[in-house]
Amino acid sequence: MKTIYADMTAGIDRKLMQKAGDILLSGGLVAFPTETVYGLGGNALDAEASRKIYAAKGRPSDNPLIVHIAEFDALERIVTDVPQEAKDLADAFWPGPMTMILNKNDRVPASTTGGLGTVAIRMPDNEIAAAMIRAGGGYIAAPSANTSGRPSPTTAQHVKDDLDGKIDMIIDGGPVGIGVESTIIDLTEKIPMILRPGYINMEMLRDVLGEVRMDPGLHFNDPNFHPKAPGMKYRHYAPKAPLTIVEGPQDRVVEEIRSLTARKEAAGGKVGIIATDESAAAYDRGIVKSIGTRTEEITISMHLYGILRDFDDLGVDVIYSEAFDTPRMGQAIMNRLIKAAGHQVIKV
Ligand code: TXA
Ligand code: MG
Repeated sequence: MKTIYADMTAGIDRKLMQKAGDILLSGGLVAFPTETVYGLGGNALDAEASRKIYAAKGRPSDNPLIVHIAEFDALERIVTDVPQEAKDLADAFWPGPMTMILNKNDRVPASTTGGLGTVAIRMPDNEIAAAMIRAGGGYIAAPSANTSGRPSPTTAQHVKDDLDGKIDMIIDGGPVGIGVESTIIDLTEKIPMILRPGYINMEMLRDVLGEVRMDPGLHFNDPNFHPKAPGMKYRHYAPKAPLTIVEGPQDRVVEEIRSLTARKEAAGGKVGIIATDESAAAYDRGIVKSIGTRTEEITISMHLYGILRDFDDLGVDVIYSEAFDTPRMGQAIMNRLIKAAGHQVIKV
């Protein structure tokens, strides 16, 4: 299939947007920008379109999709009831990087929710996304637009690298602003539960909901603890080279990564290092990339997946990364980084 490339970096192109809507209404797939990561969209109420999404990504079909909407009223038409918490969260954070889990009604096909009786719903904060959702019928199922297992795409080029020739259209809206996927909050639990940390953190959710807890399945490496969101159990976001995180006081971290790098290079290995603007100059070996600055944590989340992809392209043998336990988004960033590392963490 020839993938149409729609450049909307300078603004929405009406004709191409109508084309995107037509593709979605007839069961096709369109990748599009959101404020978190690029999504791979298909009509969420069309079982066949959902199946196409799984096929294009090579995604296990028990891993449910998020339904993207452009107005709050759309939510009422796909769930059994709308609790007050959902209205309060929507008032506080929609459009924005937050996904709610609610009980679904029959309009949502089982293939969209991986057979679950609940549905994930999000209203993204991006003009192109909103226009596309409306043009495509109002309910767009969209996982991140990467091949399953690869780092999520934060630019249209990342989408192209993974999905060119496999989907109908890619809309380029420029690089995303946040860089890690939305926070998922499950409102079908007695106490609202975070199934995936993101930009909207625990504190922000507690300000609106009162009591909130973190899915205990996220904390443990123990195979007996299963995260409730089916997607959180997979080794997502994996770069090709093994990644090791070094955690501890900053000077000890630098020292450890320097010596690991020296040893690996002495054995003939090509080493990638993920540092920050503050630390990059402290490394004199390896291929050093700064992920951003610790004084502005959004720069770190924004570049996380891109840097993992860059090291794939450079063909390094190993990657060492500093830890980024930043105050607001640290939980979201480290959740992704630890998964990318397959839980390989050295504490110094
Ligand atoms: O920021 C985002 O949320 C991005 C952009 C494109 O909107 N989308 C995204 O989708 O991250 P995806 O498919 O890569 O991740 C969806 C996650 C998976 O971990 C999945 O298991 C979980 O949401 N999920 C979806 N429906 C669920 C449900 N009914 N119950 C529990 N978890 C659910
Ligand atoms: Mg994903």
